Amino acid sequence: MKFFVDTANVEQIRQAKAWGLCDGVTTNPTLVAREGRDFREVIEEICSIVDGPVSAEAVTTEADSILAEARELSSWAPNIVVKIPLIPEGIKAVRMCAQEGIKTNVTLCFSPLQALIAAKAGASYISPFVGRLDDISHQGMELVHQILQIYQNYGFQTEVIVASVRNPLHVVEAAMMGAHIATVPFDVLAKFFNHPLTDVGLKRFLADWEKLQQEIKSS
Ligand code: E4P
Repeated sequence: MKFFVDTANVEQIRQAKAWGLCDGVTTNPTLVAREGRDFREVIEEICSIVDGPVSAEAVTTEADSILAEARELSSWAPNIVVKIPLIPEGIKAVRMCAQEGIKTNVTLCFSPLQALIAAKAGASYISPFVGRLDDISHQGMELVHQILQIYQNYGFQTEVIVASVRNPLHVVEAAMMGAHIATVPFDVLAKFFNHPLTDVGLKRFLADWEKLQQEIKSS
């Protein structure tokens, strides 16, 4: 399973990479706005840090203008994936991008039929937003289950990015279901390490080692 980091903050990306937990990055206009930096500059910097795919979002809503943006964005770095919203004009643009070999991440997916439409259009990735569904009392992870089943039924190559992740349990469920990728905010990623028994156990080991009054020296 791949972990993408859902952020436009380069320090967070560097830290996640050092942990070996950054197989790619997803951004959106909200995340980029949070950094207050020039869009192209921040995307190019992220692309230079990350070996895997980096999603940068198109910000128009007509197929032709989305395609023009997609061509521009994908010229910035070889690992750019163009994020396109799941609207009719967006799906038209996804089809055109696929014909040109431009990779796409179809975003704002909230239903299995939307995901099916995206796959038929040739999307490289689909991003079901599980947290936002949970927020309105729907089972976000149930959507992921449905998409994986549908894609498996028909052999679609579109990879499922579990997005709008709010907590580590979303990621555990995604892994149990066999989702290809989870894109995870940095604060949630950092929680992957946590277990109180790890902290208690380490404290005890270090205290016992201290009693020995020894060092591990290089020979
Ligand atoms: C990722 O592609 C999405 O932009 C992101 O996960 C949305 O998350 P949010 O619902 O926390 O804004």
